[in-house]
Amino acid sequence: MCGIVAYIGPREAYPVILKGLKRLEYRGYDSSGVALLNGDLRVYKKKGKVNELEESLIGKDVHAHAGIGHTRWATHGEPSDRNAHPHQSANGKLAMIHNGIIENYAQLKTELQKKGYVFKSDTDTEVLLNFIEDIHENNQCGLEEAVRIALKRVVGAYVIVLLDAANPDTIIAARKGSPLVIGVGKGEHFLASDASPIIEYTKEVVYVNDYELAILKADELVLKNLGNEKITPFVQKLDLELAAIEKGGYDHFMLKEIFEQPDTIFDCLRGRLDVSNATITMAGVQNNIEHLKLANRIIMVACGTSWHAGLIAEYVFEELCRIPVEVEYASEFRYRNPVIHKGDVIFAISQSGETADTIVAIERAKEQGAFIFGVVNVVGSSIARISNAGAYTHAGPEIGVASTKAFTAQLVVLTMIALKIAKEKNTISEERYVHLLNELHEAPEKVKEILLLNDKIQELAEKYKDAKDALYLGRGYNFPVALEGALKLKEISYIHAEGYAAAEMKHGPIALVDENLPVVFVATKDSYHEKIISNIQEIKARKGKVVAVISEGDETIPQLSEDIMVVPQADELVAPMLSVIPLQLFAYHIGVAKGYDVDKPRNLAKSVTVE
Ligand code: AGP
Ligand code: GLU
Repeated sequence: MCGIVAYIGPREAYPVILKGLKRLEYRGYDSSGVALLNGDLRVYKKKGKVNELEESLIGKDVHAHAGIGHTRWATHGEPSDRNAHPHQSANGKLAMIHNGIIENYAQLKTELQKKGYVFKSDTDTEVLLNFIEDIHENNQCGLEEAVRIALKRVVGAYVIVLLDAANPDTIIAARKGSPLVIGVGKGEHFLASDASPIIEYTKEVVYVNDYELAILKADELVLKNLGNEKITPFVQKLDLELAAIEKGGYDHFMLKEIFEQPDTIFDCLRGRLDVSNATITMAGVQNNIEHLKLANRIIMVACGTSWHAGLIAEYVFEELCRIPVEVEYASEFRYRNPVIHKGDVIFAISQSGETADTIVAIERAKEQGAFIFGVVNVVGSSIARISNAGAYTHAGPEIGVASTKAFTAQLVVLTMIALKIAKEKNTISEERYVHLLNELHEAPEKVKEILLLNDKIQELAEKYKDAKDALYLGRGYNFPVALEGALKLKEISYIHAEGYAAAEMKHGPIALVDENLPVVFVATKDSYHEKIISNIQEIKARKGKVVAVISEGDETIPQLSEDIMVVPQADELVAPMLSVIPLQLFAYHIGVAKGYDVDKPRNLAKSVTVE
């Protein structure tokens, strides 16, 4: 996820680009930059927000009628001036911006280094740019053809937009897997990641499809495929307003991010999980496998939803790796003067990578000799930098305060790490290993299927939105999912909801149950199934209203439930990333039904950077 804006035409390009980048800030940025072409090619870029770039350009020569701009969401190379886009090719004649991930960049980089290329950044983008330059120079072909040849070797996702100092009247762009929109003006053309930077200038747009190349002049738009065949542009009229565009047409960022989960789980797996070869590639794990496989103890340290991911990881790691796991609230761990041994490995789990309690907790642990492994979403964030090693969740910017896609991405990454360690330790059979790889591979499609429940869950929300209290119950892997479901309801709808281990009810909380209390059971088919049925019967016997998340094919629990939400069958170890989805939607729709600002709930912040 990042923001891309480009312009060619009679206007001054810089103001158009700058305003457009600000419109795209919701897509996440850690740095930004522009390249402007008017005779000479000028590249200005800077770590930080777009307005910091703007301030740095006061007094600079920003005159141009062609330009490209980018807000970065780093995937390769921490946020910095040198890793910011646009990148300039080795000979300085090309400038390029990129949205996406070039999975085979390392191989391409090695090939180019053997040819003498020296790289100024750590990004995959610069590798692709110099790959294009190399073809352009050595094959003596035009830039457009060089781009086509290069992209045929690229594995991954991209939108790329290039300026060529030798052809100041042309902008070249290409797309595969990341979004790109062309704005068709009168004697001018715009490019952007979505229509929000374009809509004030023109409502005529062309959505570029995968494997298409756009060659833009002020008064000419040519679309081609990678086979160099021309494609007739399909010009559409925009009927969305600006605010709706930023949310991708969804009413709220939270709903958009819930619906992004098939893609974000896919992005999390991309370049790592290879089911055909039964391998998981994670450099951060591989390069530190001795620390991980020889750990005497693993301590998951996190807050909130990330703490729930740690709880699920406790079950996964103990089951697969046979390493003792403890899960700690960072806010408690940091003050408790915990006993840390040298052989301990701390997993710091954090979407933002900036949660103050988690930062201090791992700093304390590091001082006592623990090895810190960060599972973080924001590249280059504080926790990512403090950790000895790590793995990014690649969930893209999560704008809604309630964490949804980052949570499921955390589960995917943690499960892959546990599988890699278990494989190294030989604590998992080949059969179960391959089975679980396939389960992960199938997860995006299963999540897509669950999202079809949206309308039904919206109806359920209408039915339960006036509840004063709610209980969320689960066992085993689904116990932390119950906690997460309760937190989602609390933070979005302000209804008091409590998550609990289902078997613990008889030790006190069951006294709460009466005919006014909705009790949500996370009860997908697993090794606890018979037990959870008994727990449901205990609640039924006391007139509690049972709402159950169940697996397809379960014929028992529907007989005992007031309402059900059905998810596809999955191995219990992978089920949490599925069973949480209906609970996310349930909380979202109740919050909306109650008229609350579900993207910015009262009293909360997206990243708790205070203690
Ligand atoms: C979850 O929906 C909340 N936004 C909150 O509990 C969050 O998970 C917690 O503050 C931890 O944030 P982090 O993952 O960025 O460290
Ligand atoms: N992979 C590129 C980088 O890390 C682009 C990231 C993005 O989409 O912003 O710079």
